[in-house]
Amino acid sequence: KHSGVVKIVEVGARDGLQNEKGVVPTNTKIELIERLSSAGLIHIEAGSFVSPSWVPQMADTPEIMKHLRSNPPAAPTGVTYSYLTPNMKGLTNFIHYSSNTGVSASEHASEIAIFGSASEGFSQRNINCSIAESLERYRPVVQKALENGIRVRGYVSMIIECPYDGPTSPVKVAEVVEGLLDLGCYEVSLGDTNGVGTPGTIGTLVNYLIKDRGIPAEKLAAHFHDTYGQAIVNCLVALEAGIRTFDSSVAGLGGCPYSKGATGNVATEDLVYFLKGTGVKTNVDLDKIVEIGDWISKKLGRKNESKVGTALMAH
Ligand code: HMG
Ligand code: MG
Repeated sequence: KHSGVVKIVEVGARDGLQNEKGVVPTNTKIELIERLSSAGLIHIEAGSFVSPSWVPQMADTPEIMKHLRSNPPAAPTGVTYSYLTPNMKGLTNFIHYSSNTGVSASEHASEIAIFGSASEGFSQRNINCSIAESLERYRPVVQKALENGIRVRGYVSMIIECPYDGPTSPVKVAEVVEGLLDLGCYEVSLGDTNGVGTPGTIGTLVNYLIKDRGIPAEKLAAHFHDTYGQAIVNCLVALEAGIRTFDSSVAGLGGCPYSKGATGNVATEDLVYFLKGTGVKTNVDLDKIVEIGDWISKKLGRKNESKVGTALMAH
């Protein structure tokens, strides 16, 4: 049995919708985000300030941000929206659109996320530079964000295996995690981008990071895609290693446009159900998440990828 409270970062509106083939109307995205917060999810990725020629699905992020900042949720309180920024231009846009609503970015609970890779091949394809170049590119971004009171989360992708480069060495993952923490990220999320990890490989990696490299478990998050159906069991392995932050997406939406065949994240419904079963608190209303998962799947005309959601909807 585990105890305590677990932090869930809902990434469906970003990691999920960045991969939809069709255009998802901005209003649908906003409704999704507002419904998710009303179900008790207080850490929500709301979009990306990335190049619209690279990821056109996220081009309406400025409108979403403007709406969310002028309509903060009444309840729950303390909701944080986060936005991916791949470079200084992304941060400049983030600050520009957040100050357009009359509240400065630092006064409002919003934060940015920078994203690196543990494999060179994916780094080149996703952000068009090497791993070393990405860390140098992020250095002034994090510095400026912190000067403006904006918290920065980090991501490292392809922690187990890369479709371009093959298996990833845990040493490489550790170097990128440490690099991102050194830059000033408060937490680094471990991305099994293509969901190939198993309890064996994930267990070896997280124990290496925490025990051998001495990286505090509270500075790590688990970001597991469910491509091979391993995400929940991998979350258990991460939980047992001491990790208390988990990324998930409602209805298992998602994938990455630069990682062929990758499917969605672990479904939020499945994660919440699983965590409840282990005895940890999530402060999330499972029934509401299940309804949202059903609604967004129908809206997008796709199968609900959450097993728990599908089971509970049949009741
Ligand atoms: P580049 O082509 O090398 O950039 O792309 P550039 O600086 O040469 O700029 C090219 C054009 O993009 C210019 O416009 C720039 O102004 C514009 P043009 O002059 O041609 O009209 N541009 C921008 N526009 C808006 N916002 C910006 C921005 N930057 C440049 N921030 C770049 C480099 C990093 C920009 C590009 O590769 C990019 O945007 N990549 C993002 C890819 C992405 O979003 N991937 C998905 C998220 S990562 C993920 O899903 C994994 C994760 O979930 C964890 C996991 O599962 O592992 C996080
Ligand atoms: Mg992802």
